[in-house]
Amino acid sequence: MTSSSATTHLPDALGQPARDFLSSSHGLLIGGEARAAADHREFESLDPATGRVIARVPHASSEDVDAAVAAARTAFAEGSPWRSMSPLDRGRRIAALAELLDSHAQELAEIESLDNGKPVKFARHVDLAGAVAHLHYFAGWPTKIEGHTIPVAAANMHCYTRKEPIGVCAQIIPWNFPLLMAVWKVAPALAAGATIVLKPAEQTPMSALRLGQLALEAGIPEGVLNVLTGDGETGAALVEHPDVDKISFTGSTAVGREIGAKAGRALKRVTLELGGKSPNIILPDADIKRAVQGSFTGIYFNSGQSCNAASRLFVHKDQYDEVVGALAEQARATIPGPGLDPQTFVGPLISAEQHERVRGYIDAGRAEAELVAGGSSDLGKGGYFTEPTLFATTDDDAKIVREEIFGPVLVAQSYDSVEEVAQRANAGAYGLAAGVWTRDVSNAHRLAALLRAGSVYINTWSASDPAAPFGGVKASGVGREHGHDGLDAYLETKTVWTAL
Ligand code: NAI
Ligand code: MG
Repeated sequence: MTSSSATTHLPDALGQPARDFLSSSHGLLIGGEARAAADHREFESLDPATGRVIARVPHASSEDVDAAVAAARTAFAEGSPWRSMSPLDRGRRIAALAELLDSHAQELAEIESLDNGKPVKFARHVDLAGAVAHLHYFAGWPTKIEGHTIPVAAANMHCYTRKEPIGVCAQIIPWNFPLLMAVWKVAPALAAGATIVLKPAEQTPMSALRLGQLALEAGIPEGVLNVLTGDGETGAALVEHPDVDKISFTGSTAVGREIGAKAGRALKRVTLELGGKSPNIILPDADIKRAVQGSFTGIYFNSGQSCNAASRLFVHKDQYDEVVGALAEQARATIPGPGLDPQTFVGPLISAEQHERVRGYIDAGRAEAELVAGGSSDLGKGGYFTEPTLFATTDDDAKIVREEIFGPVLVAQSYDSVEEVAQRANAGAYGLAAGVWTRDVSNAHRLAALLRAGSVYINTWSASDPAAPFGGVKASGVGREHGHDGLDAYLETKTVWTAL
């Protein structure tokens, strides 16, 4: 029992390319080279549908963090291949990476599905499709990063700005959309001409390692994208490293606060995409069928493990019974299954820890609210499955109403008036997303202005595009990803004065 394949379990449903990658030996990617951790520690990545080991990967220590940051610094040095590359060529390499992700999309979707538990069809048509689109979008930016000529008051003075890459970036990724979240951060950093140390979540390290290999294949120079597999300690060492210029993090609000505080003390640049408890409001004049469908997908997609999950539902008292009844019926009919099964809509939760955490919320919900559907987190199939669960309550202070659950658990509440619902929807700590279902344009845009959230969805949920900014207010984070704003987060402005 010495080879890794002797002690790892890869399901039959896996295609050959994903199987080949997962059963190969895995190294940290530092300066274009795959290496073991300096202290040779490893950890296991599991299949959440079975709890079985799918691969072993290096566990990066602070020594590896030092090496990866040094490699990123060297790749960023003046005169390096990356810094001397023309913007046109930089864009070409990013486009080549997009094409490689596209041609390996099925392989990557299977890796993602097995490592994370998500349905392979969504991994393919949401995560992979989104990642490819993102890289293509940012491939167009390098040639369009322009400064300004400033009409200053002083006579005989020429003043202009340059937009320069921010430097070495630490990018820390969560487990819910492992490859997509990595690409959301990698693509704008590459477009800006920065260099990267990427740390995927310990639950889902596999797709980031494959991304690192494909980046080299796409002609992105060694050391520009380094990948360290590891846990929160690895992440903390990266955040604290004095030679890191910028940190981007997606994950829990608790860790985001910690990172924000450390970045503040060190005056590092920081972007934080954190948690949410997003209100989803159905107005009395909504297309109810469409609203029910959108609300169902809004919460149960990705087993509720989305930062912008539609986890808090408000229905007008006149439609409340009808909507809650329809959602309950659909929830009961949705049986969780393994991600590699093409029939699956709701996969397992990511880990034993998350499964337990969500079970705790369901127990709290049973005590403080009415359980309308689901509620079981022991489905007798092994793995970390939890039923799509629906609670109803009138108590705005209930734990399940206030806190992010990050599982397939929806809380429904009724309301009376638009003013009342806007005020209740804004009362929480978070501000990532909010939604409104209505046929009345005036109410739609009145609420869009009233709701305190980074994104407002009208008659849809979780619409996304690489060009459209995404991020949160209040406890949901700092800064925006995607589009012009997302690129700016990786650029510094330099002002140049010349006396003529
Ligand atoms: P987490 O915030 O601990 O982990 C996210 C990433 O941060 C991982 O890569 C992890 O290794 C890293 N990390 C952990 N501690 C760190 C530290 N001190 N310094 C630097 N990096 C660190 O999230 P976790 O524990 O996996 O999930 C807990 C809860 O967080 C979930 O139940 C959910 O509510 C929320 N969450 C929100 C996400 C979002 O998309 N907004 C994604 C993942 C989790
Ligand atoms: Mg895993």
